[in-house]
Amino acid sequence: MKLLMVGARADGHAHVVLDAIVEDGTHEIVGLADDNPALWGQGVLGLPVLGDVAAAAQSLERLGITGAVIAVGDAAARCRLAAACRDLGLVLPPVIHPAAYVSRYAQVGEGAFIGAGAQVLPGAVVGELARVMAAGVVSHHASVGRGATIGPNATLCGRSRVGERAFIGAGAVVLPEICVGNEAVVGAGAVVTKEVPSGLTVVGVPARAVDWKP
Ligand SMILES: CC(C)(COP(=O)(O)OP(=O)(O)OC[C@H]1O[C@@H](n2cnc3c(N)ncnc32)[C@H](O)[C@@H]1OP(=O)(O)O)[C@@H](O)C(=O)NCCC(=O)NCCS
Repeated sequence: MKLLMVGARADGHAHVVLDAIVEDGTHEIVGLADDNPALWGQGVLGLPVLGDVAAAAQSLERLGITGAVIAVGDAAARCRLAAACRDLGLVLPPVIHPAAYVSRYAQVGEGAFIGAGAQVLPGAVVGELARVMAAGVVSHHASVGRGATIGPNATLCGRSRVGERAFIGAGAVVLPEICVGNEAVVGAGAVVTKEVPSGLTVVGVPARAVDWKP
């Protein structure tokens, strides 16, 4: 399928998503869209930036584009841009790096991203537009909410649950059966031993709430 990639930051998530799609070979990115006007009409990562999503819509038929991938780190923006692409009739296939392991007994939602070396084990659910970054582990029967991010090398132990648009930092561990609420943030390297309420930021070992907002 020919794809529009939304998000054209050459030194950001877009390059990681492009790499996974090229290595996998199932889909082909033929154009980029980005909200940053400075990029419009430029070539980024060897691909043309067609404008924002509304402008790129004018080129979909000409380029044979029927799908989109949202390569934007901010969870709320990712969900908003996905809705805009769906309104244009584009489908959002999951992107799974060929060096990831995804069990046949796991579920991966539309528009989700699974990076190189990640593992998604039996019974796990990765929600739509969620991201499991390089070497992240979603252990058996754990779940990742819509739009959430599991950072590089982070581990969700068995039956743990991460809420919508939550962010689990690099190398953090969420212990078995523990829930992390919607839009909560777990700092890099933290070990989460008890429930994290929605919207809270926790850091450290064991993870404790902090009084600042990222
Ligand atoms: C927790 C986090 C979100 C806080 O970010 P922030 O609000 O910008 O916080 P700051 O960098 O201003 O740090 C505030 C304080 O918390 C401490 N702190 C920050 N992150 C910490 C962490 N992961 N563990 C322990 N302490 C941490 C800082 O040392 C600082 O302490 P101080 O006030 O005594 O100097 C961030 O540090 C983090 O861990 N992000 C994860 C990044 C990541 O893993 N990305 C994956 C890439 S895909």
